[in-house]
Amino acid sequence: MSTVSLQKLRKTYGKIVAVEGVDLEIAEGELIVLLGPSGCGKSTTLRMVAGLESITSGALQIGNRDVTRLEPKDRDIAMVFQNYALYPHKTIRANLAFGLKMRGMPKDEASQRVQEAAEMLDIVHLLDRKPGQLSGGQMQRVALGRALVRDPAIFLLDEPLSNLDAKLRARMREEIAMLQRRIGKAMLYVTHDQTEAMTLANRIVIMRDGKVQQIGSPLEVYDRPANAFVAGFIGSPEMNIMEGDISGGQLNLGGDVSFAVPQGAVPGQVTAGIRPEALSLTDGGVPFSVQGIEQLGSQTLFIGMMGDHRVRAMTGRRDDIFLGDTITLSVEPSAIHLFDRESGERRGAAGEG
Ligand SMILES: Nc1ncnc2c1ncn2[C@@H]1O[C@H](COP(=O)(O)OP(=O)(O)OP(=O)(O)O)[C@@H](O)[C@H]1O
Ligand SMILES: [Mg+2]
Repeated sequence: MSTVSLQKLRKTYGKIVAVEGVDLEIAEGELIVLLGPSGCGKSTTLRMVAGLESITSGALQIGNRDVTRLEPKDRDIAMVFQNYALYPHKTIRANLAFGLKMRGMPKDEASQRVQEAAEMLDIVHLLDRKPGQLSGGQMQRVALGRALVRDPAIFLLDEPLSNLDAKLRARMREEIAMLQRRIGKAMLYVTHDQTEAMTLANRIVIMRDGKVQQIGSPLEVYDRPANAFVAGFIGSPEMNIMEGDISGGQLNLGGDVSFAVPQGAVPGQVTAGIRPEALSLTDGGVPFSVQGIEQLGSQTLFIGMMGDHRVRAMTGRRDDIFLGDTITLSVEPSAIHLFDRESGERRGAAGEG
């Protein structure tokens, strides 16, 4: 049974279509990440679920109730905002209790909930401080706490970690994932950061220009991107995407560059995608002239030219290859993604038929 159901949710502002018919069923306890570039409609979708934006057409159900036209307070949701939105003159305790008080919860019960949430988030020692006396990470915890005390059907988070430095962001990300599993409630989480999406999500919804491109688990969208856009957006470093054509069981990428493709790959013009980590150093592979080297510790990223294509290749650590060297690379036929040149739609990687 799904907790939340988005049915053809659409949002227009005059002639601007911000969100074009999003369909999504969110199961109890599921963590869904809305992912996509700036302006693709992530926040608008989330805000329609929250009730902060009216729904132009379509329907929204939360816990089997149609809430399409209900006020935010009547929807059984709790939202965590990027800017925290804490009351500066109230203590953290009062900030956490505020929403509960507004809803008329008895004082004892509210204190109890605040205490429990504070323990879960490890902020008990901060309860008597004011927001101005907290660090960014602590403030983020309090913002989460304020949603947590509400015990809603679904948590809505819009880029909640974007104000934190990289290290803290990674830590908070882990904590949010653990917390969400512990409380077992649904969560809809917006980010433009594919790493955040890959590490947090049960399922990722990838959007572009107001339209859903693909919905799938992190490994599904990594292994079988539905189109060239998803292929380029998911994965780091970014997939190499090149125009080529298929004939005689070979993907020809211009010049003398060609790779074997699986049997059954349909001849013709294609857009091909090869992940940097799918390329390997092999004798007798395709020549690649090294123009850049990034040592990442356990891995090495090479940037260089393969024929006319600028390509990234990621290998295990190598410190015996230098700028200006020419090395040779190969790829398993089944690791080459093929997309329709015109539409960008997946043609099936190799081996998928
Ligand atoms: N009030 C508004 N009036 C007109 N257009 C709007 C309004 N709010 C949003 N839009 C447009 O709707 C589209 C989607 O915006 P939205 O804020 O949902 O994007 P987003 O995916 O959250 O982007 P970001 O990653 O930058 O936050 C954009 O083209 C935006 O310009
Ligand atoms: Mg946004």
